[in-house]
Amino acid sequence: MAKAVIVTGAGGVGKTTVAASLAVRAASEGKETLVLTVDPARRLASALGVKLGGRPVRHPEVPRLWGAMIDGAASWITVARRHADPAVADRLVNNEFFEAATVHFPASQSYAAAEEAATYIDSLRWDVVVIDTPPAAGGIEFFTAPARMADLVGGRLLRLLTGGRIPGRNALFNRGARPLLRFADQLLGADLLERVALFLMDLRSTYDGVAKQSKRIEAHFRRAATLVVTTADPAPLAEAARFFEELPEVAAPPVAVIFNRTLPASWAQAEVPARTSAELADNLHRWGAESQRQRDARAGFAARFTAPLCTIPWLAESPTELAGLRSIIDLADGLPRLW
Ligand SMILES: Nc1ncnc2c1ncn2[C@@H]1O[C@H](COP(=O)(O)OP(=O)(O)OP(=O)(O)O)[C@@H](O)[C@H]1O
Ligand SMILES: [Mg+2]
Repeated sequence: MAKAVIVTGAGGVGKTTVAASLAVRAASEGKETLVLTVDPARRLASALGVKLGGRPVRHPEVPRLWGAMIDGAASWITVARRHADPAVADRLVNNEFFEAATVHFPASQSYAAAEEAATYIDSLRWDVVVIDTPPAAGGIEFFTAPARMADLVGGRLLRLLTGGRIPGRNALFNRGARPLLRFADQLLGADLLERVALFLMDLRSTYDGVAKQSKRIEAHFRRAATLVVTTADPAPLAEAARFFEELPEVAAPPVAVIFNRTLPASWAQAEVPARTSAELADNLHRWGAESQRQRDARAGFAARFTAPLCTIPWLAESPTELAGLRSIIDLADGLPRLW
């Protein structure tokens, strides 16, 4: 089984970039490595040679590196097709309530991504699988989605409507629910509830598959090395803190928090040379203050939570090419051993 490294964090902090550069590093250290990216920027995708919807592809230049793009939009449709009979899956995805379900339960995207990742971890092809995660709910959703998904498709509402066991289509409602539904239908003047119940029953038929997969995915989560990526800005930091505060039981404690886009600490004390133009002096002061603010933010975080902190410098150029990806990991300070 592969060593899984899960890279999580708020939106836009550099998760995909960090995941890609860790994978480049693992491959260069001799590991057969797969990086699973979510919606990478176009230039990064081409640096990794990955295309949407494809199977893992071998990197043309980096030996032992493979990449694949997880379909960020894959969700209920994937889940339905994976876990229901083909005819039931067709009925589900064409159901009038299907879209409403996908809108009200977006965690299905995280679930579909986690299911896909689990398949690759289980395959014996790779030593290391680096998993980039969808940014929803500060990354927490990725970890809670399997349990929530299993709960939803096997949930109490469905049990009420469909009975304890999955019934045949003829025995659509259990005896207790049927009169209630008839009464509601009379009030609503349509067979609305009956149609909803049909939909829920079809959804319920995915339960066995989803429940089994959820357990398998959670076992992978517990064994994985989880890295929380953040910047020193308040919003992503709050999400990183949430990850610790609401640490889902299913995830192992993060092995490190990565402060990405870190300014050099020396800037905080930089002396402004004499005869510097007022404009430049002002600029240096502002960058110095920002560097100090970042340091304070890191210290504040370290005081609240126990996890090793790692910093990655703010590069002048976005690291979307291989050289940039290599250099951000070479310049990372405090990164623990991950594989
Ligand atoms: N250390 C860095 N220095 C400079 N630019 C960086 C650094 N890390 C990431 N970036 C740039 O920041 C932008 C966001 O990075 P990235 O796409 O990896 O974030 P993300 O967390 O995956 O975003 P999303 O949540 O939208 O998926 C990209 O343009 C990336 O090239
Ligand atoms: Mg990303």
